Amino acid sequence: MSWNRDSLIEAARQAATKAYAPYSRFHVGAALGFADGSVVTGANVENASYGMALCAETVAVGKALSEEWRGKLEGVAVIGGKAGAVGAGDPVTPCGRCRQMLNELAALGDSDPTVWCVGEDEVLELALSALLPRAFGPDSLT
Ligand code: THU
Repeated sequence: MSWNRDSLIEAARQAATKAYAPYSRFHVGAALGFADGSVVTGANVENASYGMALCAETVAVGKALSEEWRGKLEGVAVIGGKAGAVGAGDPVTPCGRCRQMLNELAALGDSDPTVWCVGEDEVLELALSALLPRAFGPDSLT
């Protein structure tokens, strides 16, 4: 199975339907595309203790790493919005913590994935290295 920009965005959109976001009612889906053609998705997971919320990208990275995906991360799609209007507003860009989480996964496969941030009128296409320049990663510890 393989993926392209549009199928990755569609996978993220599908993932957003699984969001558990009863507090913010802001549903986000993320899809990670790997060089071997595989795709891992995630949705945001909130908690009654609000600050414990997990973003969609972080959930996806956690799924990928815990299921032993170690391939080259080549693409990331992120989409979000108010319940019932996912993808209807401005592009959703990964928060700072998620950029760091994505960087770890990218570093394992020595890649600089393209991140597509999907909005109603535009899809931002950004290298992860542009979103998180001079990142601290596994190599920083050696
Ligand atoms: N959220 C994500 O899942 N990803 C992002 O990139 C930005 C924010 C989630 C966290 C929280 O559940 C909700 O969106 C509102 O901040």
